[in-house]
Amino acid sequence: MGSPTSLPAPAGVTRGAPSLPAVAEVGVFVVDPTEPDPLAAPALAGLGDFYHRHGFVVLRGLHSAEFLDRVERECVAAQQAVLAGTVPERYGSTQYLDARYLDRAGLDRAGLGRGGLGRAGRPDGAADPSGRASNGTAPAGADVEIGAGHEIGAGHGIEADVEAYVNYVEHVEELAPAVRATATHPLMVALLRRLLGGDVWMSPSENDGVVYQDARPGRESGYSRIGWHSDWQAMPSLDVWPGCAFTLHIDATSPANGFLRVVPGSHRWATPAPYRNINNVAVPADARPSGGYTDVEPPDEMPLGFEKIPGEIAVYAERGDLLLHDAYLWHSAARATENATTRRHVRAGYYSGDRGSYRDQFIKNAAR
Ligand SMILES: [Fe+2]
Repeated sequence: MGSPTSLPAPAGVTRGAPSLPAVAEVGVFVVDPTEPDPLAAPALAGLGDFYHRHGFVVLRGLHSAEFLDRVERECVAAQQAVLAGTVPERYGSTQYLDARYLDRAGLDRAGLGRGGLGRAGRPDGAADPSGRASNGTAPAGADVEIGAGHEIGAGHGIEADVEAYVNYVEHVEELAPAVRATATHPLMVALLRRLLGGDVWMSPSENDGVVYQDARPGRESGYSRIGWHSDWQAMPSLDVWPGCAFTLHIDATSPANGFLRVVPGSHRWATPAPYRNINNVAVPADARPSGGYTDVEPPDEMPLGFEKIPGEIAVYAERGDLLLHDAYLWHSAARATENATTRRHVRAGYYSGDRGSYRDQFIKNAAR
């Protein structure tokens, strides 16, 4: 029996290093924003077809290194402001955090509302000058009490020796002008209009706006990974579709700090509303039964957790890459394998359907 390297290459694939980037970076399109009509450049000729066929693309080169530094600086400042409690609670988040984390931290989700954790993890929402973290961690050297009767440390699964941080800033575009510029970039909006086939609009800031996410793998973290879902499944009662999420990557992604998994072409399946889900959340009666571009049933049921799906691929990003993925696309995110890593990005949703039907809905069906 020969070694794996002696196996014949599949049709159309040449073995050897020179072909690897083309295989590994499938779906990546490089844009030159200094050209007079960047979207008409030959390098982007296949972008629309790729998006419609596979449900995602990665646009590379849209932002300069200096601009990305600004995005990072402003996001980190916003994150620290949430941690310190110097900005209103609405910039913090509980809705995206792992329910087990909230339970471990002894935080009452029902009583917190959406921004409650932003004030240093205190259920009463009171400003806390000690700067305790909204992820339940305490700054090094600080005491470890995070709320009346709730101590972190041994037995609670929360690390007390990690520098404090928060995993989320919501409505971050209000605190970070560079994020607003990213989220409304004329070239991206023109591209989204083309891809979604009509006028497009972003999730309003009073609801979701733009979210800054800092994924970390530690036990103290409130967000490290997410199981299979389509974004449509979170809002199946709305008529805002088709939609597309943009993600601007601040950190490059890898197996070390975690990465996106997608099932190319799954946006074309009629994905059921998340009636069956790992969190046992109820699907409202007014939900549409399925969401996708065709009536074709998925070949397999969407896994409840992180199982491998036949045909799935990893989508790795470089710093500054702009991922656009369809709201019907099946995707998940793998947790980091290195402890001292971050996986930071800013993201929001664009929609092309009935703007008047937009309202606050978030069915938290995906595994964490
Ligand atoms: Fe998603």
